[in-house]
Amino acid sequence: MTLTIPATKTARMAGPDFGENRVLPMPDLTYTPEVAAETAHLYDRVKHVVPPVEWPFHAPYVAAINRLKKERDAVILAHNYQTPEIYNCVADVVGDSLQLAKLAARSTARIIVQGGVHFMAETSKLLNPDKMVLIPDLKAGCSLASSITGADIRRLREAYPGVPVVAYVNTSAEVKAEVDICCTSANAVQVVESLGVDRVLFVPDQYLAKYVASKTKVQIISWHGACEVHERFTGEELRRYREADPSIRIIAHPECPPDVIAEADFTGSTAGMIDYATAQKGGKVLLVTECSMADNVAASARDVEFVRPCNLCPHMKRITLPKILDSLLTLQHRVEIPEELAVRARRSVERMINLQN
Ligand code: 13P
Ligand code: SF4
Repeated sequence: MTLTIPATKTARMAGPDFGENRVLPMPDLTYTPEVAAETAHLYDRVKHVVPPVEWPFHAPYVAAINRLKKERDAVILAHNYQTPEIYNCVADVVGDSLQLAKLAARSTARIIVQGGVHFMAETSKLLNPDKMVLIPDLKAGCSLASSITGADIRRLREAYPGVPVVAYVNTSAEVKAEVDICCTSANAVQVVESLGVDRVLFVPDQYLAKYVASKTKVQIISWHGACEVHERFTGEELRRYREADPSIRIIAHPECPPDVIAEADFTGSTAGMIDYATAQKGGKVLLVTECSMADNVAASARDVEFVRPCNLCPHMKRITLPKILDSLLTLQHRVEIPEELAVRARRSVERMINLQN
């Protein structure tokens, strides 16, 4: 699937800078006994998924990133789909899209490094206009975000005059600027019903739209976008897992197609899925979502057995420890959103956040 990074800008460093934004030299990345000792408590968190032979490659990066975060006054926000060594060893806050958006709004650090994809970094920038927001890889996009543009929203408004538009946060700032309100998978039904109307346009995820339609009387007009990770699951494969072990609890993300959700015991945002899975003590669960999440949940839910059909999000996997280190050293790539666009996009995100409070 082709991917276009949204129309908003990401700035390159302009000329030499000898102040707090100066480029720092690459630290020594040798796995020494000191590095081993400094990171031992962090290896303990990931040893169930990171073999001992791999840790000497990760540990020097983990130690360097954790030191640099203090030096730069930076925080790392990591989505639940980040790899275990990022999620457990260098992240300051972890969560689903809604949690990351709220935590970004409360951050006091000077710099935010987004462990996640581009639309998440844009949301952090919208809520922190005065902070430096960095995305370690500019190509970390999202098939949903690239399925719709601001011009598409303007055309939809012409076709459906007066019908409010709800946009999933998995959209560019350009799209957020054109809509009435944002939602995440955690609050989509609540957001739709908050508008007090009979019909809404819901973009861009056709499957999240179907899920919302199954939970509300509001008529949902949807767009044709889909998550390239979740659309690959099928109800048929889940039935096979259940036949093999009828006690299994199937937990699905609402970006999955309806026949998958029909087989699930629980459907919710990635944070909702983690809470449900963690509560199944002594049981076996199948997480129908991006597969790093099971590795991350397994770190804190050691009495739950995870069965993992492994669909990876290639965009989330672009974020790695070496790229996070590079981002902190060079302060690249900075997310910048033109002010006129940011004012309108921020309104849609804040309208959603205020609904929760
Ligand atoms: P959550 O908001 O549930 O974390 O989902 C974000 C996402 O990109 C799922 O694919
Ligand atoms: Fe986008 Fe799907 Fe990846 Fe989430 S998992 S970032 S929705 S492509």
